[in-house]
Amino acid sequence: MKTIAPCREVTVVCPGCSTSIAWTMEEGFTCPRCRFRPRGADACFDFLSDDYNHTDDHYSFQWSRKTGFYQFLNERPSAKKFMPSGQLGWPRLFEDIRAKARQGCRTWVLDAACGYGGIARDLIQEDTKDNLFYVGADIHHSLPDIVAQLPLLKECGLLLRWDISKRLPLKEQFDYVICRNAIHHTPDPRATFDALCSRLKPGGRIAISAYRKKGMAREALDDCFRNYLVPRPTPEAFALSRQFMLLGKYLQQVQATVTIEEDLDVFGIERGTYPVHELFYNHFLKCFYNPQFGDDYSTLVNFDWFHPAYAYRYDLSELAAWFEANQVRVLETDAIPAQYYLLGQK
Ligand SMILES: C[S@@+](CC[C@H](N)C(=O)[O-])C[C@H]1O[C@@H](n2cnc3c(N)ncnc32)[C@H](O)[C@@H]1O
Repeated sequence: MKTIAPCREVTVVCPGCSTSIAWTMEEGFTCPRCRFRPRGADACFDFLSDDYNHTDDHYSFQWSRKTGFYQFLNERPSAKKFMPSGQLGWPRLFEDIRAKARQGCRTWVLDAACGYGGIARDLIQEDTKDNLFYVGADIHHSLPDIVAQLPLLKECGLLLRWDISKRLPLKEQFDYVICRNAIHHTPDPRATFDALCSRLKPGGRIAISAYRKKGMAREALDDCFRNYLVPRPTPEAFALSRQFMLLGKYLQQVQATVTIEEDLDVFGIERGTYPVHELFYNHFLKCFYNPQFGDDYSTLVNFDWFHPAYAYRYDLSELAAWFEANQVRVLETDAIPAQYYLLGQK
């Protein structure tokens, strides 16, 4: 008799009529009451409609196979250390999760807004897959590409096309809920956080990273260009994002430094000596360029900053208050100039 991995048997809360239904993925799914039927097969199912959604449109483009971000990071893992996702508390947390799974503890992980599949790739390995049950949820249409690139996923998890600002349409409770660099892209991040906490087991851990508020000038200029780019069709916005990459590249060619002799609080600049690009980038305008990323992936980073419909920024205390309101104790915080990271336990 064929054994079915526990993660292939879940309880769906039907998005059409809220009926709870046991679902063995091998057998497909149709709601007996309202006939709702998610599209998809194998390890990737679509629980949403195809109504236009700006975030979906943006990220379906950004994470498409044509753009090839998954492939790029696979071939150049060293680029990861320049990304917020390779910094903050993430590498430590992933090591903890892998270690638990390797020790034989059944570990359910919800990766809310799983993006291009980077976290799935970091967690799902030959020696973790038997005890790791991974559910990735995201709103974009490029999820099937992740399954194609990460065949192990089928053995220990599934991907759902779903809007994470709503409660997940599965009854399962998770040991870990992860929402990396994404909650600020949902229409009401605080409500999204509450919805995510509702999926956490007692004693389970939730980790998020979110955009950090920057100085006045940088906030104002970034918003000015967001207002310019957000309404534009996705391919046009991507083409325009190239100019932010070029500006960054040109500024990095300036060898001179700028010495600031006293703190300039109005601009949020501490006294010190700065390369021109660093001073401009950190305090006036995002214009990312990194030779490891090259022109195209540097452009993608700028596009990711300026074109999504929602891009809220926070102080650490605001994010910590979300945890407190959900009776989740903050265990760890971390910060880089661009983002905050918080890990908590219910
Ligand atoms: C910058 S990416 C981060 C992806 C991933 N968490 C990571 O760290 O690699 C932001 C992701 O949030 C997803 N997202 C934004 N709003 C969403 C929503 N309401 N529901 C589901 N996913 C959403 C986007 O589709 C995108 O994949």
